[in-house]
Amino acid sequence: MDGVTDAPFRYITDVIGKPDIIYTEFVSVKGLILGKPAIQRMLLRHKTKTTMIAQFFGTEPEYFYQSSLVALEKGYDGVDINMGCPDKSVFHKGAGAALIINPSVAKKIILSVKKGIKDGKEKYNIEKNITVSIKTRTGYKKPQTKEWISNLLEVEPDVICIHARTFAQKYGGLADWTQIGIAAELMENSKTKLFGNGDIKNRVQALERIKEYNLAGVLIGRGALGNPWIFQGKVPTTKERFEVIIEHCKKFMEFFPSANLSIMRKHLGWYAKDFPHASEVRNELMQVNTIDDVKKILFKTQAFL
Ligand SMILES: Cc1cc2nc3c(=O)[nH]c(=O)nc-3n(C[C@H](O)[C@H](O)[C@H](O)COP(=O)(O)O)c2cc1C
Repeated sequence: MDGVTDAPFRYITDVIGKPDIIYTEFVSVKGLILGKPAIQRMLLRHKTKTTMIAQFFGTEPEYFYQSSLVALEKGYDGVDINMGCPDKSVFHKGAGAALIINPSVAKKIILSVKKGIKDGKEKYNIEKNITVSIKTRTGYKKPQTKEWISNLLEVEPDVICIHARTFAQKYGGLADWTQIGIAAELMENSKTKLFGNGDIKNRVQALERIKEYNLAGVLIGRGALGNPWIFQGKVPTTKERFEVIIEHCKKFMEFFPSANLSIMRKHLGWYAKDFPHASEVRNELMQVNTIDDVKKILFKTQAFL
């Protein structure tokens, strides 16, 4: 998730939540290949046995090819292509959800990533399986799941994840899981695996959805903000919550030593809930610039719990 699933967030999610699979933020293939440092930092990662997927967005198949090589060099387990982002800046360039209305380019991109993975495996002597996956939506203005997903299946990606909203819905309304059902039926005899996504609030619901729609998995986005415990179906104690906040801040400074901790404020706001006076603590956390600022606030709060 853009602005969220950076290296420290992925570390915390992995260690605390232990999900099966974790994705990077979406990374511009053009920015990556043109060597923009801020974009290259988006692919920083920790060592882990958990499946780590590099997600890319863009329009040029050649940049996707080269970016796939970069992902393999960095040890990622798969390359995901974003075909779902509804943001204006992405859509107007023909990337993200705009690929839903341009299936021929979408398919060229998938084939380029496949080639990148094949060549990258040879180049870097990689034996493990590396997946190519798509993260998309149900359609442009209206759901067109059958037609759109059929197009993608022609080039046989390993996984398709559907966020059960159209481009036009952005993040509004409810995810329409009946569309995931339509895709599941379509893909019943396909080698391509299907993941569902949209509005999952907890682990029980995730497992129910997987069973109901016969899915290979589901992705959880907003439910994991400030809540790495969601993957374990656990409610943390306030002490655990505070410990993870500090650990997350430490990891942030380890990965980005010259950054200001103020960038972490949104995460702190997401964590600081479900304990007495949480809203006051949240307000204070919105002013922090250093780990010491965070520690002082949490230490003072703990004394009153
Ligand atoms: C702040 C934010 C950033 C996001 N960034 C990405 C992204 O980089 N790539 C992507 O595929 N989806 C991105 N999404 C969409 C989510 O991955 C997910 O599809 C959507 O939020 C619905 O799932 P959820 O209800 O579990 O959050 C983002 C969503 C939010 C709220």
